[in-house]
Amino acid sequence: MSQLRELDTYQRYLRQLFHADDEELQRLQAEAEAAGLPPISIGPEQGKFLQVLIVLTRARKVLEIGTLGGYSGAWMARALPPDGRLISLELEEPHAAFARRQWAQMGLEGKCQVRIGPALETLPHLADEAPFDLVFIDADKENYPAYLEWAITYSRPGTVIVGDNVALGGRLVDPESREEAWVQGMRRFVERLSQDPRLISTVVPYPDGLALAVVR
Ligand SMILES: C[S@@+](CC[C@H](N)C(=O)[O-])C[C@H]1O[C@@H](n2cnc3c(N)ncnc32)[C@H](O)[C@@H]1O
Repeated sequence: MSQLRELDTYQRYLRQLFHADDEELQRLQAEAEAAGLPPISIGPEQGKFLQVLIVLTRARKVLEIGTLGGYSGAWMARALPPDGRLISLELEEPHAAFARRQWAQMGLEGKCQVRIGPALETLPHLADEAPFDLVFIDADKENYPAYLEWAITYSRPGTVIVGDNVALGGRLVDPESREEAWVQGMRRFVERLSQDPRLISTVVPYPDGLALAVVR
């Protein structure tokens, strides 16, 4: 058996035990596919990981950059306390509308809001809602360094910052992809994350590299 197949078996085993999507989350994903949304959401492993972080830090206010169909938002909102709030930023109006419908069907509309527009334009309007307890960055990779700076601006000591897709499916360290804008953006993001004295940071390599930082 190859190493990959062994890993797949291991991942399947863990998913069954810890990370299984329930019917509502499966329905969300099936309807997202049917609606033609790109299949680029997090997986259940990251969803559960975000939930653990939310409970661990007793987070009440979460900021997400990159809503898509609301899948990661649903995972996070479910882990928030009844008075918890998720603000999610999304460029595409149809994605935002889809997420709102899904959250309403799941009874999460009271906890989740989506703000439409390029995140670099919506972020400056969030000062009144700050500080956030957790910021999840999962949108255009070119702007990850700027999103990191906003996340720190809207933080307090102890705020957790998470960034998905550090590995970019292997392209982060592929010499042939070095010139691509998203690779350069991600490299700047991880380099800043590793060096910024305001943070203590690491990258969880699995599944596609999950950057994890805590504001000092
Ligand atoms: C990887 S998907 C987010 C997946 C979502 N977090 C999940 O796991 O369910 C990235 C999303 O970011 C949005 N996006 C891309 N560029 C953006 C920008 N400049 N501002 C806000 N959202 C953006 C895309 O339209 C897309 O819906």
